[in-house]
Amino acid sequence: MNRFISPTMGLIAQFSPSTAFNIPGDKSLSHRAAMFSALAEGESRITNFLDSGVTSVMLTALSALDIKWTLDENTLIVQGKGLKGFTTPTDPLDCGHSATTIRLMAGALAASGIGVTLDGSPGLRKRPMDRIVEPLQKLGVKISASNTGTAPLVLTARDPKKGLLGGTIRLSQASAQVKTCVLLAGLAAQSELIIHEPGFSRDHSERMLKAMGVPLQINGLTIRMPYFSTPLNPLSMDLPGDISAAGFLIVAAIITQGSKLVLEEVGLNSTRTGLLDVLTSMGADLDVQITAQTAGELTGRIIARSSKLQGVTVSGDLVVRMIDEFPIFAVAAACAEGETVVKDAAELRYKETDRIKALCQQLQNIGIMIKETRDGFIIRGNQRIPGGSAQSCGDHRLAMSLAVAGLASQHGVTIEDIEIINQSFPSFFNLLQHTGTSL
Ligand code: S3P
Repeated sequence: MNRFISPTMGLIAQFSPSTAFNIPGDKSLSHRAAMFSALAEGESRITNFLDSGVTSVMLTALSALDIKWTLDENTLIVQGKGLKGFTTPTDPLDCGHSATTIRLMAGALAASGIGVTLDGSPGLRKRPMDRIVEPLQKLGVKISASNTGTAPLVLTARDPKKGLLGGTIRLSQASAQVKTCVLLAGLAAQSELIIHEPGFSRDHSERMLKAMGVPLQINGLTIRMPYFSTPLNPLSMDLPGDISAAGFLIVAAIITQGSKLVLEEVGLNSTRTGLLDVLTSMGADLDVQITAQTAGELTGRIIARSSKLQGVTVSGDLVVRMIDEFPIFAVAAACAEGETVVKDAAELRYKETDRIKALCQQLQNIGIMIKETRDGFIIRGNQRIPGGSAQSCGDHRLAMSLAVAGLASQHGVTIEDIEIINQSFPSFFNLLQHTGTSL
């Protein structure tokens, strides 16, 4: 399906979970809440759960493992059966487009010890899985990937009386999906597990596992999980709004004249707020206030107003803190004065698409001057975005970024295969309409 986004004059609205228009629950937290609750013993209750393509893949996979759950108006109830509670499914588990599902599932299934094949869409089959296969093998898991290090992943059943090895695992990427996979497998380790990360990645798993009773000790980039054998406690959590989803609306407000958006109860975990910091350093009129904490996660209010931006350089540790935000950041950078340079972001080539290549090609299609580099891109700022036609390239974040570019364009933007946004943010266009934007 194609969608035409016409230029708009400005976005004015207030979103909070208490209104009909809320920022949907965080995708990373929704995945973890569903997965970890299945491993707990007893009933977990999660409100503001994200109901979208990628999370429904996770829930369907849990059903195939005989975990009972209900999802009613974004409240997810899961009947957890403990670490060994999964039933071996008859068919391979389909992880759709969701890398988080396949990587978290691999860790949880490794802990459970059942034999399963994990597979997914042609797009998912291109994403690197050797990064989880190698550490899992070091823990004694019998797992193999295809000879290109990709899905399908085959896990062989283990003697139910045997656990996994502990020891020290050094991760080669700062990746929360990989770290979480190893932590989940580590729940079945027979001795202490120590994980070293090369850089800080989002720490939702550590916070949630601690809230569920796992005695993790964290010191900088080292996580220590002492041997323990008590079951995970069920989870009760109201999920914050997704800061990555909020990013599209925030940038839309900043780059269209006369806007003021107020977003309430958005997740403000500092491992995720890189985009807010960069936009502020570019001169964005952003007001961020922490208002509450839920199961170890900070939440708060963000007020975004239209602003004049200056170009900036993004590199180093900041890249991981905004790893999902580069498509929308590029749109903000195109509207800024001066050049913007992104470096140290080669990991973007392993996302839903080669995100550096796809982003540069599609923004060029709508007239933005952006140049691909080995590990990022360079954008000439202060542009009037002419508009035109572009493709989503099977990437939900690219599709929404193109839509936001359309709002600030001269002639509008047509996006092909727009339905991909349902993977992470099905209410995106409804929310935009609620801001007064005519679509
Ligand atoms: C995620 C971690 C990030 C992010 C992805 C979700 C998670 O991936 O890009 O959208 O929920 O842990 P990596 O861990 O591969 O960097």
